[in-house]
Amino acid sequence: MFDKKTVKDVDVKDQVVLVRADYNVPLARRKDGSRQITSDFRVRESLPTLKYLLEHGASKVVVLSHLGRPKGKDADLSLKIVAEKLAELLPGVPVGFVDECRGDEVEQAVADTPKGGVLLLENLRFDPDEKKNSEELAEDIVRSTGATLFVQDGFAVTHRAHASTVAIAKLLPAVAGLLVEKEVTTLKKALEDPSRPLVTIIGGMKVADKQPLIDKFLPVSDRLIVGGKIAADGYKSEEPQVYVAEDFDVDSEGNKLDVGPVSTCKIVDMVNGAKTVLWNGVLGKVEDPAYATASVIVAKELGENRDVISIICGGDTAGFVENMQLNDPELHYTLISTGGGAALSLLSGEPMPGLEALESK
Ligand code: 3PG
Repeated sequence: MFDKKTVKDVDVKDQVVLVRADYNVPLARRKDGSRQITSDFRVRESLPTLKYLLEHGASKVVVLSHLGRPKGKDADLSLKIVAEKLAELLPGVPVGFVDECRGDEVEQAVADTPKGGVLLLENLRFDPDEKKNSEELAEDIVRSTGATLFVQDGFAVTHRAHASTVAIAKLLPAVAGLLVEKEVTTLKKALEDPSRPLVTIIGGMKVADKQPLIDKFLPVSDRLIVGGKIAADGYKSEEPQVYVAEDFDVDSEGNKLDVGPVSTCKIVDMVNGAKTVLWNGVLGKVEDPAYATASVIVAKELGENRDVISIICGGDTAGFVENMQLNDPELHYTLISTGGGAALSLLSGEPMPGLEALESK
C-alpha cells in the first residue's frame, strides 16, 4: 500500500536530518496584539517522526516548513512561534530557531545546535524561490545545513512541487516520515481496499470542488451521502447508492443552513452500519453552533464507535472534529488528516509530486 522508503528503512544514526514538516498552523491575535496558534494539531502530529529520529541517534534534526502565503518577509508569518510550541511539546530537547532558511546564519545556527537538538528554519515562503521549485534554493539549504538525509513528513504539502518538496529530494537520500506513511496508507486503503461497507460522506460548500472526490468514491462506496451546502443547493444523483440529505434547518430568511433531523437520523443509521467511514465536508454552517447539530451528532456517533475505521479529511471537517475531540478526549478517530488540499488531491487521483520525489522501496 505504501511503496516509499521511510525513516525506518534507513540508518539515521549520526546524520544531520532535514525534515520537511507542514507547520501551516492557524493563527489569531490576542487582545495585546501578540500572535497565538489556535490549533497545534499539525505540530503535535509531527512529533512521532522527530522523536523517532532523535531516539535512533540522529545527530541534529533541521526542520523546514512554510506558514501561510506571504509575499516576501512578513513578521506576522514568522515560524518563531512554532519553534516555541515545539520546545513546549519536546521537553528536554534543545529546540532552536533561525530567521533565515539558507546562508551563513543557518550554517552558524546548525553548528550551534547541540547533538540531539532540533533547529527550525524560517518560513520557506519568505523566499520566492521556494514556490518556484528552485534547485538553487534546495542546494543552498543542503549546503548551509550540512544535511545528509531528507525526510518528507509534511503530508499537507505533498501535492505541491516546491523546492522543499521536489528539488531537495533530488539532492539527498529522500524518505517519508511516519506521518506521511500513516496518512497515505490510511487514505489509500479507504480508496483501494476498504473494510466494507464503506460509507463516504461528502459535505461542504462547492460542488465543483467536491465532484472529483464524488466521482472517485462513487464506484467504491457502498453508500455515498451528500450533505452540506452542496445538498442544500439541490445536488441530484440517479445512482442508487447515493443519499442526498432531504430536509434542512433554515434561518428566518429560509436559507438552508444545516441538514435536518430526518436526514441526520438516516445518516446516523448508515454510519452505524459501516466498517469504514470517510468524511469530507461538514454538513452545515458549523461556525454557527445553531447549525452545527447534524455534524456534531455524526462526529459523536463516529467517535464513539470503536469498530469503525473513521477517516476525517479536509481542513474544515478535520478542524471541526479535532475541536470536538479536544472537548471530549473519549472520542476516537482512526485518522484526522492534517492534509486539507493534499488529502483531496491524493483521494481524487491527482499527481502528488512531493510523494513521487521520494525513494521507492
Ligand atoms: C495546507 O494548509 O493545505 C498546506 O499547508 C498547503 O498550503 P498551500 O495551499 O498554501 O500550498
